[in-house]
Amino acid sequence: MDKIVVAGGKRLAGAVDISGAKNAALPMMAATILASGESTLLNVPHLKDVSTFSDVLRVLGARVKREGNSLIIDTSSIEHLEAPYELVRTMRASIYVLGPLLARFGQARVSLPGGCAWGPRPVNLHLKILEEMGAHVEIQHGYIMARAGKLQGALIDFDVSSVGATANAMMAASLASGNTLLRNAAREPEIEALGQMLSSMGASVSGAGSGTVEIQGAKTLRAVRERIIPDRIEAGTYMVATAMTGGKVTLRRARADHLGAVIDKMAEAGVTIRQEAGNLVVEGPTSLVPVNVTTSPYPGFPTDMQAQFMALLSLAQGTSVITETIFPDRFTHVPELRRLGVKVTLDANVAKITGVKRLSGAPVMASDLRASAALVLAALVAQGETEILRVYHIDRGYERIEEKLRGLGAEIQRVRV
Ligand code: EPZ
Repeated sequence: MDKIVVAGGKRLAGAVDISGAKNAALPMMAATILASGESTLLNVPHLKDVSTFSDVLRVLGARVKREGNSLIIDTSSIEHLEAPYELVRTMRASIYVLGPLLARFGQARVSLPGGCAWGPRPVNLHLKILEEMGAHVEIQHGYIMARAGKLQGALIDFDVSSVGATANAMMAASLASGNTLLRNAAREPEIEALGQMLSSMGASVSGAGSGTVEIQGAKTLRAVRERIIPDRIEAGTYMVATAMTGGKVTLRRARADHLGAVIDKMAEAGVTIRQEAGNLVVEGPTSLVPVNVTTSPYPGFPTDMQAQFMALLSLAQGTSVITETIFPDRFTHVPELRRLGVKVTLDANVAKITGVKRLSGAPVMASDLRASAALVLAALVAQGETEILRVYHIDRGYERIEEKLRGLGAEIQRVRV
């Protein structure tokens, strides 16, 4: 198990490459199941979650080869239609194989993912959309058992905007007979990217990313070559790191059009952000202004940036309020941030942060992906040394985070314990 050790107080400067988006790569890896053949995904980040998903595909019988930043996935030999508990429990996104397996093979057995560090993560919407497309779904011994003849296109109204359930519905619909219309679908850029991939494969998908998606299923789909979009949450995390240290950093390949709500809130807090030749240039202020943030489905402020923003606002001159509406319990970062001197009170899903002049280094425990990122951010400015234990949480979603931060001038290293 590794730990990350940070000596706080360094101002970040220079340029950092933003990697491919984890939350685009995972559904697109699942989509390769829909077509028998060899697909290539480009700009795939080197992350624990990507290697876990590769293992899930291998268990199904696919061949997955990593070549630099590309993944070559050959799904022609898939024959084992089960995603086992020991893999699914480590990464709930494994449920993305459910729709494609059912659509191509007529059956699937996927372990229920269970919860995560901050609470329950239901999958009822994933099951509901498949039943609406004609599947028979039951839960047995902790597994989702789904069977179907040819899936039928359907009109599906989401009462909750769900990224994962939207992705599963789009993939299943791509091989269903007839048309499927999704209303109140998730609008994330990763959903738009999935729609583009499914269209390249031969389904006709319109409106992906708009909230209303229409998919005309195809009889068969073809393997493709697709590039993964840049990771907007990784970019947002480095924007916060720059702002907290009062630095100036160029985020290469960051997409401003995917970060509207984050850019608006950072500008409100006094951070200067401008687009320059396809990059984002971020400059931290000498002092930060308190702001109020409420998370909401895209294009609102992303829940995946909530913990990082709490770290930022811990230095603002005044009181800020963060309201978490997507995952009301998503505050495992609070007790650990408090150990670093962050002044925050919690009342249900509302956090009130009172800015302080400085944070102080201490040993802290990573708990989940974005909470761990918030600890790294706070450590960058905390006085003295901070040790962050259980770093594997960070490796799930951040590629080489200590190398990238060191390249910007941070005093940070990974220590094997
Ligand atoms: C995706 O998770 C992301 N994961 C999460 O990022 C992200 O936090 C989340 O979307 C919200 O943006 C990936 O893309 C791999 P949801 P997902 O279904 O699909 C409720 C990270 O840090 N819901 O959009 O699981 C749910 O409880 C990860 O990279 C149901 O009620 O999230 C939540 O309140 C963490 N029933 C809301 O919908 C369901 O069947 C949105 O969840 C499914 C979801």
